[in-house]
Amino acid sequence: MSDPCQDVPAPLRSALERAGQMHVLRFWHALDTASRSRLLGQLAVVDWDEFGTLQRLAASRHEPTAPAAVDLSVAVTPPCLRLGDSTNAIPPATAQAAGERLLAEGRVGAILVAGGQGTRLGCTGPKGLVPVGPVSRANLFELLFGKLRAVHRRFGRRIPLAIMTSSATDDDTRRFLADHDHGGLDPDFVHVFRQHDLPAVDATTGRILLDAPDHFAMAPDGHGGMLVALAESGGLDWFGRHGAEHLASFQVDNPLALPLHREFLGYHAVSRADFSTQVVVKREPGERVGVVVEQGGRHAVVEYSDLSPALAAERRTDGRLRFHAGSIAVHCFTKSFLDDAASRRDALPLHLAHKAVPFLDDAGSLVRPTAPNAIKFERFIFDLMPLAGRVTVVEIEARDGFAPLKNPVGSAADAPEHVHAALVDQARRLLADAGVTVAEGVDVELDAATILDATDVAAAFPRGTHIDTPQVIRRP
Ligand code: UD1
Repeated sequence: MSDPCQDVPAPLRSALERAGQMHVLRFWHALDTASRSRLLGQLAVVDWDEFGTLQRLAASRHEPTAPAAVDLSVAVTPPCLRLGDSTNAIPPATAQAAGERLLAEGRVGAILVAGGQGTRLGCTGPKGLVPVGPVSRANLFELLFGKLRAVHRRFGRRIPLAIMTSSATDDDTRRFLADHDHGGLDPDFVHVFRQHDLPAVDATTGRILLDAPDHFAMAPDGHGGMLVALAESGGLDWFGRHGAEHLASFQVDNPLALPLHREFLGYHAVSRADFSTQVVVKREPGERVGVVVEQGGRHAVVEYSDLSPALAAERRTDGRLRFHAGSIAVHCFTKSFLDDAASRRDALPLHLAHKAVPFLDDAGSLVRPTAPNAIKFERFIFDLMPLAGRVTVVEIEARDGFAPLKNPVGSAADAPEHVHAALVDQARRLLADAGVTVAEGVDVELDAATILDATDVAAAFPRGTHIDTPQVIRRP
């Protein structure tokens, strides 16, 4: 009998055989040319050496395990510097001056992670396209890019920005940039790169899950995929050519993010940290933020899903949660630290998530499971923290720098209405500080591209101005 898979390239065939995954060719004989090349295209991006690791990990975790696998018995919340706090070991004015120097000398770059699909929010395209401006209806990309423009305006140097997309967000993100003048950024200072996908596997058999005769389930490899994808795309060298020695990373879902805050950058530089990170005080055990901990002289982020309810709820005698340094995923790395880490294949561990993933049954019909049947794999960029020689943790006020959009309208937290309120509240506070009053119930919004801080707000209006119509506050 002739071999139905004889025209599958031999190296691929032997990789599949070695990995015990020949079932992905189950429908090969019935596929037309286009479908065959679709399947081959997907198979070509799988790293079959790494796949062995995925299988071994999956085999060790058949069942969803309870959280708290992490031993935190001797872990503590590390000391934090606080923005504007004169009792800090580094005076705020010293940090501010150092940060300003970095920005004015063009030594800072930025990395935006925008590969997530916004599943919880219920959006299908890139989250960056969701409109959140309370008055302008500007989307998340526009608000975040605006911050880079405002820094350029103030310090005279452009910030090179690398944007990480995924298979789910790449096309739409690139189209947005092309159709919208790169959100006002200079295209020479924008580098778009795409993270990898990893196959999902059946939780009991470790087999890849076909969800169509010519397609199998894959998912983005987590924001930690940034490390390898940035290097492979030439992004680290690109930053080097732009003179960026420090790279600040931030998430697309937080329109208040302050990755280029000069005092934050200054603490990072003055303390000679490899890895600095911003935290907010976590007040309630149920808040869905990872926490920064220190254990055995090393810093790490423990994800909220890995913290047992009992540990999450533990309080110190001063009333604060024992683990209260809530990670908001705004980091700053030295480029040399990322260069080193990127050269180490195993720098970031894989995390496993049990998910319900549709698959074709033996009869070839699509099954949509209601309970987790599969394992997906992700890497987290914050897992670089324990590898850093020196880590600096900077506490900020949530109202100044953290208003994440995670959940749909009507949710208890992190929903569009909370983001709206946080942006309006920030504008009203800065206006009040500048002696400008705003009528009750009137929405105001700071123009991200021209307002960096209170100085810009004060330059926008004379003291004593009263605002009684919704508006975007711009500095002329
Ligand atoms: C994340 C952090 C959590 C932190 C919180 C703050 C993780 C695992 N957890 O939680 O510690 O306290 O944000 O808001 O990161 N992304 C990609 N590619 C991917 C997956 C995600 O680019 O493959 C991006 C998303 O676009 C998003 C960000 O990473 O910008 C966060 O991802 P998400 O899955 O929403 O993390 P959270 O559970 O909210």
